[in-house]
Amino acid sequence: MRAKAIIARRSPDGVPSADDFSVEDFVVAPLQPGEVLYETLLLSIDPHVRRRLPQAAWLPKPHGDVTAIGEVVVAGTRPPPSPRDAAVVGRVLESRSADFRPGDFVFGGFRWQTLHVDQAAHLHHIQPTPATALVDELGLLGQPGFVAWYGVGLADLQPGEVFVVSSGGGAVGMVAGQLAKRRGARVIGIASGSKVGYVVDELGFDACIDRTREDVTGALDALAPEGVDVYFDNVGGTVTDAVMTRMADFGRVIVCGMASEYNRAEPVTGPPLRPVLRKRLRIQGFVIYDHGHLYPRFRELALRLVADGGLKYRNHIFDGFERAPEALGCLLRGENEGRVVVRVSDEVG
Ligand SMILES: NC(=O)c1ccc[n+]([C@@H]2O[C@H](COP(=O)([O-])OP(=O)(O)OC[C@H]3O[C@@H](n4cnc5c(N)ncnc54)[C@H](OP(=O)(O)O)[C@@H]3O)[C@@H](O)[C@H]2O)c1
Repeated sequence: MRAKAIIARRSPDGVPSADDFSVEDFVVAPLQPGEVLYETLLLSIDPHVRRRLPQAAWLPKPHGDVTAIGEVVVAGTRPPPSPRDAAVVGRVLESRSADFRPGDFVFGGFRWQTLHVDQAAHLHHIQPTPATALVDELGLLGQPGFVAWYGVGLADLQPGEVFVVSSGGGAVGMVAGQLAKRRGARVIGIASGSKVGYVVDELGFDACIDRTREDVTGALDALAPEGVDVYFDNVGGTVTDAVMTRMADFGRVIVCGMASEYNRAEPVTGPPLRPVLRKRLRIQGFVIYDHGHLYPRFRELALRLVADGGLKYRNHIFDGFERAPEALGCLLRGENEGRVVVRVSDEVG
């Protein structure tokens, strides 16, 4: 049986382009006992894929594998630490394991391929729900939603506090802002493009700063003159430098990700620590892989909120496996309008 894979051809200069990759055919190996053959239906495109591409040695290595030049692009960790950390929603075609049958939906996927052979122990069953689409398993109900819920929970957020989330219209940011709003916070997003209007008009954020058109510090002075109580940081870089200067006393900074830095060719110096001392700030980073056991609690809450219309989400879908590099470039330029997913099979909605 033949399949397609996307190969890293060189180390990208800045945001990856289609020329950094090639699409190649390969022959799928015969199944061994305990193995499962499954097809990719949906492939999630996450900022961390950029850090797994061949790149400058100074960058800290991500958790798990990285892609070497000439290898199939690595999309996640293998085996995924929990179902939520998988990059692929797939469907079983053949199985030599008693745990999986043809037609089963699975979480899996480690590399950008249309077909995968893997040990059954590396896969997780998906139980689709009637109220949500299969694509939501990678976004709202998947790792981004779970990350948002966990990160907001770390912030010790109080009603009436000012909560700022960078990349507020992104896969994680959309959920973080809505959950903060449900806790009674005044929520300010930072975003670009159509996401700026979307998070206010559709998701109910109180305001959103366009980082490409506005001065972030000036906008925060106007929107939050008493300072920012909680900053949920998805991007790092100059946006974070700006917010750090506008934190309130005893503010909390939840460090979720550094999306602005993944394309940089030179080391980043980071924000000055003076405000941390003077304003008695707490800075808390986290990696969701440590917290997979909490997922059922999040899922139960998310499904309840979706049923009540209290949690909204949108996906930015690219049709066609070959478009994965284009989708990654779109995400890393901030041009995405929601959770970026490549639909490999047109049978799924
Ligand atoms: N801690 C964890 O366990 C964990 C797990 C999963 C993901 N993450 C991290 O969570 C963050 C959000 O992930 P996501 O999947 O939801 O991605 P995302 O926010 O949907 O996409 C990245 C966004 O970053 C913004 N951005 C890109 N370049 C930027 C720049 N130079 N300056 C400022 N903003 C820039 C863009 O949004 P705008 O253009 O709208 O600003 C872009 O859409 C990422 O940093 C990711 O690595 C952390």
